[in-house]
Amino acid sequence: CGIVAYVGHREASPIIIKGLKRLEYRGYDSAGIALMNGDLNVFKKKGKVAELEAYIAEQDTHGTIGMGHTRWATHGEPNDENAHPHYSTSRNIAIIHNGIIENYASLKKLLIEKGHTFQSDTDSEVFINLIEDIRTNNNCTLPEAVRLAMHEVVGAYAIVVLATDSPNQLIAARKGSPLVLGIGKDEYFLASDATPIIEYTNEVVYLNDYELAVINNGTLDIRSKEDVQQTPYVQKLEMELESIEKGGYEHFMLKEIFEQPRSILDSMRGRMIAESNHLMMAGIREFENKFANANRIIIVACGTSWHAGLVAEYLIEDLARIPVEVEYASEFRYRNPIINEKDIVIAISQSGETADTLAALELAKSKGATIFGICNVVGSSIARATDAGAYTHAGPEIGVASTKAFTAQVTVLTLISMIIGSKRGTLETTKLHELMAELENIPAKVEQALKLNDQIVRIAEQYKDATNFLYLGRGYNFPVALEGALKLKEISYIHAEGYPAAEMKHGPIALIDEMMPVVVIATKDSSYEKVVSNVQEVKARKGKIIAVVTEGDTTIPAMADHVIEIPETSEHLMPLLSVIPLQLLSYHIAVMRGCNVDQPRNLAKSVTVE
Ligand code: G6P
Repeated sequence: CGIVAYVGHREASPIIIKGLKRLEYRGYDSAGIALMNGDLNVFKKKGKVAELEAYIAEQDTHGTIGMGHTRWATHGEPNDENAHPHYSTSRNIAIIHNGIIENYASLKKLLIEKGHTFQSDTDSEVFINLIEDIRTNNNCTLPEAVRLAMHEVVGAYAIVVLATDSPNQLIAARKGSPLVLGIGKDEYFLASDATPIIEYTNEVVYLNDYELAVINNGTLDIRSKEDVQQTPYVQKLEMELESIEKGGYEHFMLKEIFEQPRSILDSMRGRMIAESNHLMMAGIREFENKFANANRIIIVACGTSWHAGLVAEYLIEDLARIPVEVEYASEFRYRNPIINEKDIVIAISQSGETADTLAALELAKSKGATIFGICNVVGSSIARATDAGAYTHAGPEIGVASTKAFTAQVTVLTLISMIIGSKRGTLETTKLHELMAELENIPAKVEQALKLNDQIVRIAEQYKDATNFLYLGRGYNFPVALEGALKLKEISYIHAEGYPAAEMKHGPIALIDEMMPVVVIATKDSSYEKVVSNVQEVKARKGKIIAVVTEGDTTIPAMADHVIEIPETSEHLMPLLSVIPLQLLSYHIAVMRGCNVDQPRNLAKSVTVE
């Protein structure tokens, strides 16, 4: 879910609506806004922010203080009632909430016994009634009631609370879900990330867990849950407004795909000093010895980031010869994993907010492992929870389906593998230099791969109505097959599976007939010959073969229905190139099917619930 709030001298509603649109990638089932104008007026609507905007155009939305929310449903289906903001029973206070309250059922039972009534099925309405109950029973101020409520709720939250009897007061608190506070001139902004804020101010404070911020009559007061006043750490943001706008592209996803030559370069900028043939990554310098002496590296992540983790498994084991395990964060955290002090746990996350990944790394931390983070969003929860880390510097990624964040993650992980490998002596200097030189060529080669766009449009036209797709790859291209299938599923709703090419014969081969498009990533690498045999197996069952091959290959093109030629590179770096046509293929198929590419149904970019 996404949260925006404003208090200052301007009309709040246009600022909040614009901010909600910027946060829509976080969820878009329903949206709502509360504005204080003598009374506390709440407007909410099922659907996108644009629907809320159209609805409030007819209403009186004056007010210079307000808050808004765009929802990704957890408790209760997406409808007008379940949309935020939620009133308390007295309707004197209202809340917007991102996160999940785990003990909501027991709290709700108690509150009902005490006479509170509920309009929705949400856990958020329980939270606001709890605050109201505490305020009445303790006869205390609202900030105090919020603070006390923070001791009773279990779960994750970022909340903003408004009350009719304090018309100049915004209260915010967080635990587990992100909240950024923007400080302007005589005005304050609150949002789930910095994107709604940067056009007004670049001075921000990232609230910490269990902090409560009260903005009252133009002054800001931040306190801990224990009521100790905190000194806000004001940071200057470097993000530019154009980086969060579409810049002439039809969709954010397409813009982000085309940004990759630049974002890959940005992710290695300053880290690879070509003149001295030297690699440098500030984040791991202090930990180089720990990395080099690690017994084992465990990578935890979700979704696309997990796929980047799989690429890293191949890279680290091959170049640095340290055993690597790649885990779904959601499984790892609940299966009593064996972790010890000589393990390094790397959490990979574009948003830095994925609840399962954050919890997995906290678990590992509690067992004494060294925790390393690879995040894209600066200042995010995972970035702040780790002992050390490296930012991917891909710039804001807005399209829900991750593209440039993936290639940036893979680039950073490649650099890390090279650094550890050379430190351990498992990667010879000549090989290291060869890889560095080749890595430098990658942005230009990605540029070249992007020129395949028109050809891929034509392939997409032929297969846009398929109901299933199979993606096959081996070695470094196996995670790419998984990622290609995930991209297609996410945005076109076509069922797709990624498989190690050889494993196909143990199941998926049964699905192959003349209706089945099979995307095979068959670039020239150490498993090429084996993949050729797998392609033959598909061909023998009349599957339609769309092959991604290395330029100049003649063997696979003789068998395939469609051939997509990408530039040659080292197999260690191939995922950075071979994923490009797959991103484009899924994009064009989704557009042709009329899908909402940037905001696919049921998904959210940042999943802050477990
Ligand atoms: C969601 C997004 C995916 C992303 C995954 C992990 O499912 O839709 O694109 O890969 O979360 O997110 P993270 O921010 O941790 O990389």
